[in-house]
Amino acid sequence: MSALCLFLLLHSVASAIELHVPDAPVIGLLGEDVVLPCWFSPPTGFSLRELSLFWKLTTFQQVHAFTLGQEQLENQDPDFINRTLLFPEELSVGNMSLRLRGVRLSDEGIFTCFVNVENSSSAAVRLQVAAPFSKPVLHLEPSESLKPGDKVTMTCHTYHGYPEVELVWQDGRGHNLTENVTTAQVANEKGLFHVQSTVVVTLETSDTYTCLVYHPVLRDVTQSSVTVTGQHLSFPPIALWVTVGLCVCLLGLLVALACVCRKQLKQTCEEEQAEAGDEEVEENGELKTAMQPLKASSAGDDDNTSFIE
Ligand SMILES: *[C@@H]1O[C@H](CO)[C@@H](O)[C@H](O)[C@H]1NC(C)=O
Ligand SMILES: *[C@@H]1O[C@H](CO)[C@@H](O)[C@H](O)[C@H]1NC(C)=O
Ligand SMILES: *[C@@H]1O[C@H](CO)[C@@H](O)[C@H](O)[C@H]1NC(C)=O
Ligand SMILES: *[C@@H]1O[C@H](CO)[C@@H](O)[C@H](O)[C@H]1NC(C)=O
Ligand SMILES: *[C@@H]1O[C@H](CO)[C@@H](O)[C@H](O)[C@H]1NC(C)=O
Repeated sequence: MSALCLFLLLHSVASAIELHVPDAPVIGLLGEDVVLPCWFSPPTGFSLRELSLFWKLTTFQQVHAFTLGQEQLENQDPDFINRTLLFPEELSVGNMSLRLRGVRLSDEGIFTCFVNVENSSSAAVRLQVAAPFSKPVLHLEPSESLKPGDKVTMTCHTYHGYPEVELVWQDGRGHNLTENVTTAQVANEKGLFHVQSTVVVTLETSDTYTCLVYHPVLRDVTQSSVTVTGQHLSFPPIALWVTVGLCVCLLGLLVALACVCRKQLKQTCEEEQAEAGDEEVEENGELKTAMQPLKASSAGDDDNTSFIE
């Protein structure tokens, strides 16, 4: 225990100012702000007037300076004018992190923070710029009248990202396609990449092809898939239209038939109804006639009786 204390004591006495920076590169999204971290444990009784700090890019472009208790920006590199900010309230605790506004591709590189309070020290922070790519878009050539056994060239495009990506083609079983693949990554005038990859495949009855784009910095994957069905797509358009036509005709026929049937049914119903009505009338007539003779006969009987009487 005492050995450890002694070691720590010796260590702190012997070392110059110990600067802390991240080991991994700092990722700056293109156009956004980024903080480049750098801090030290200030000596006791430390005053800002004793502090000199400098941020430089690749050791010669001056990014930001702070000496004698104030910012010194006369020698600031034009690329960084109005784009850098220290955190003033953090300085007294040894936090000399720098905020960089509106990250540009040209900012990518190694930033060095220098500090002098009694002793000097410096440390490097690597800034890695990244820009996400557009969602990949797939094209087939040829895209029509495909039959199993046909050779199809598939093209995958993705745009406006940074830096270069890793692009992989996969079939429906998740196997990487490595043969007959050509990938080109070309930077535009702004330095952003346009990635174009083609793969030539021999079509089977049906398969799904996927273009996967791995962003090495953002560590994300974007993808697009296409399912190519040889038989389905080889179905000639004329046959399709003929089939559609036939279907429409059939449907028309069915509708016509249904109408005719309905009409016929209605007619039969009406006829039946009409017949039923006649029968009723006839029945009533019969009833009447059947009653009348009864009445008549009774009347006749009466009459007869009266006559007889
Ligand atoms: C750092 O400064 C201390 C005094 O504050 C001194 O004892 C030490 O030797 C210095 N270290 C270096 C590496 O200059
Ligand atoms: C920096 O900002 C000031 C004030 O907003 C402005 O006047 C100046 O033109 C800016 N300089 C640059 C190089 O953008
Ligand atoms: C330094 O200051 C920045 C801005 O306030 C903060 O994000 C960061 O965590 C600070 N670093 C340390 C080590 O305190
Ligand atoms: C496909 O390729 C990618 C990138 O080269 C690799 O990371 C992955 O493991 C491969 N997958 C298979 C199934 O081989
Ligand atoms: C790659 O292309 C060659 C020549 O066109 C062809 O013989 C071969 O079958 C193709 N490979 C695959 C996996 O399609």
